[in-house]
Amino acid sequence: MLAGLVPAGVVARELVADLRLQGDDSGLSPDEAAVVAAAVPRRRRQFAAGRRLAREALVDLGRAPVPILPGARGAPTWPVGVVGSVTHCDGYVAAALGEASRWRALGIDAEPAAALPPTVLARIASATERTWLAERSAARPEVAWDRLLFCVKEAVFKAWFPVHGTSPGFRGAEVRLDDGDGFVATVTDGSSASVVRAEVPGRWVQARGLLVCAAWS
Ligand SMILES: CC(C)(COP(=O)(O)OP(=O)(O)OC[C@H]1O[C@@H](n2cnc3c(N)ncnc32)[C@H](O)[C@@H]1OP(=O)(O)O)[C@@H](O)C(=O)NCCC(=O)NCCS
Repeated sequence: MLAGLVPAGVVARELVADLRLQGDDSGLSPDEAAVVAAAVPRRRRQFAAGRRLAREALVDLGRAPVPILPGARGAPTWPVGVVGSVTHCDGYVAAALGEASRWRALGIDAEPAAALPPTVLARIASATERTWLAERSAARPEVAWDRLLFCVKEAVFKAWFPVHGTSPGFRGAEVRLDDGDGFVATVTDGSSASVVRAEVPGRWVQARGLLVCAAWS
């Protein structure tokens, strides 16, 4: 799923498997293991699977499969010259990595393709987004459009934070979809002294009961 979303040159690795009750948390470096030592088994398995896929992607990029520790606000600390992103949800884990000479940041997110709780939608969607959500839902009810909006904004955040070190908030990103699998988020971030505005493009897919989004900047 992810390979069809990321730009050419980005390495995508994914695992479609339910790690709630299976899998193991082996393969972590001692420092990585310490990060999730107190976490529930499911979180340890998801973390380990994400690290495993990220290391495979590093090798695909011709790099050493080094430990990847969390940095500021949980964002992975990639080796110098590499940018990337990790996501996991029930039934799915993925990592996408690319060369820092070509991208400033990558963001990926996966969600179950199921309706978003109305309270969450009220928190994340603008009036304009609600309008197109209603139109799209009427035309193609098989797509979980409101969850897609959430998924896009999560991916956009992961492609934004490593560059700017700030969080624009869900209402700080206004999402437009094209007629295919593309989107553009106009991000307006007023969380630091001067307002930063930028467009973050990406692509999405719904398949196998999942929504997967990739964004890049
Ligand atoms: C951080 C966040 C994106 C995680 O998303 P999630 O759907 O809960 O979980 P996912 O499994 O998809 O992603 C978790 C991974 O994101 C990565 N991540 C965490 N914090 C991050 C950050 N600040 N920047 C980039 N990536 C981050 C990590 O790799 C983490 O996995 P790991 O801990 O195993 O390494 C989410 O909790 C959040 O803060 N969302 C805010 C989004 C937002 O404000 N959007 C507005 C539009 S810009």
